[in-house]
Amino acid sequence: MDQIIIQGGNPLKGEIAISGAKNAALPLMAASLLSPEPLTLRNLPRLADVVTMTQLLEQHGVQINSSADSENGSSITFNAAKISNTLAPYDLVRRMRASALVLGPLVARFGEAKVSLPGGCAIGTRPVDLHIKGLEALGAEIELDGGYVSARAQKGLVGGKVIFPFVSVGATENVMMAACLARGESVLMNAAREPEVTDLANCLVAMGAKIDGIGSDTLIIEGVNRLSAATHRVIGDRIEAGTYAMASAITGGELTLSGVSFDLLETVFKVLSQSGVVLEKTRGGTKVSLDQGGLRGVDVMTEPFPGFPTDLQAQFMAMMSVANGAAMITETIFENRFMHVPELARMGANVNVHGASAMVRGVENLAGAEVMATDLRASSSLVLAALAANGETIIRRVYHLDRGYEQIQEKLSACGAIIERKPDD
Ligand code: UD1
Repeated sequence: MDQIIIQGGNPLKGEIAISGAKNAALPLMAASLLSPEPLTLRNLPRLADVVTMTQLLEQHGVQINSSADSENGSSITFNAAKISNTLAPYDLVRRMRASALVLGPLVARFGEAKVSLPGGCAIGTRPVDLHIKGLEALGAEIELDGGYVSARAQKGLVGGKVIFPFVSVGATENVMMAACLARGESVLMNAAREPEVTDLANCLVAMGAKIDGIGSDTLIIEGVNRLSAATHRVIGDRIEAGTYAMASAITGGELTLSGVSFDLLETVFKVLSQSGVVLEKTRGGTKVSLDQGGLRGVDVMTEPFPGFPTDLQAQFMAMMSVANGAAMITETIFENRFMHVPELARMGANVNVHGASAMVRGVENLAGAEVMATDLRASSSLVLAALAANGETIIRRVYHLDRGYEQIQEKLSACGAIIERKPDD
């Protein structure tokens, strides 16, 4: 396991090219299982989770061909013409919850699938009950046995109505993919509207799916017999962009972020503007700097899109920990997503957690310390805190970062950060 060592206090200056979105890439890769014809995905980020999904697809029998991309990221063709097995084993699923996304495509195309339950997860229990209920509504027979979900639909899935009791990104994606090959019409209500769900829907349409209401909370899908070949470019990662925007602000620097649409970050940018961050659209992307008044405390509540994303909550907390005044940060999506709090406290942050809310009282300076990364976004909040802190911070267990941030060390050091990575001692 590696550690990252950061000498804090350097304002970041320069340009950062934002990679393809992890959370779009993973379901898009799973969608390749829906068709016997190849799906080519461009702008795929080079991340550990993408490698895990590639391994999962390979063991199902999908043929994988990479080619150099002219832009950032890689271009990979997934050919699921011949599938050798429909089992997603525990060993791969436990490494990445998003593995569950193969369930819908496999049962829709082959009439059977067996996928390991993901098990516990650092940020809460995160069950897959909504995925299961959604597929049942499309006629799948589901059994839970030995830690596995078995889904069967011997005569194929049939269209149905699914009303999600609350918004789930993964369940919306799984059921939407399955519905594309079900007989007749499916209606998905209270569907997730995250841009990554929209990106998946657009790719499915390019493959020949019939989906209405893309981008809204009601998706109407008319099943087709078969999907065809397509090429699709993965959207830019709004969470990576939001993280670097906050890295710019917390260090008092000036970064220009390219490769992601400003529109995907509207709510985040509104909150950042209120807290003293200046965001300008330029020809090269979005320029991020800090206004004269410095950072100010702003309350935030995480919500499904278009609300403030839970995946930026930890990074925002790091930023608020050095703002003038106080900020109340409320987490409504995951029940255990404040694991970065004790680590930030080791660096001098003043945070009190009461249930789902954290009261952050800004301090003048953070101080470098030895800290431990606990999950993906918690890790990036520690990187932000370290960039702003006085002195040296050692962040252990940084493998979490490799799951979601492409070349974070290279991107930050190119903008003036003093950051090095070495094996944990
Ligand atoms: C996706 C993202 C993740 C992000 C999250 C919320 C991917 C690969 N990951 O995760 O980065 O933090 O959306 O924006 O896209 N839930 C259930 N039962 C279910 C499914 C979900 O109770 O069957 C609960 C979860 O525990 C959580 C909430 O619903 O409390 C939202 O989770 P969901 O939107 O499904 O998250 P993921 O798709 O796992």
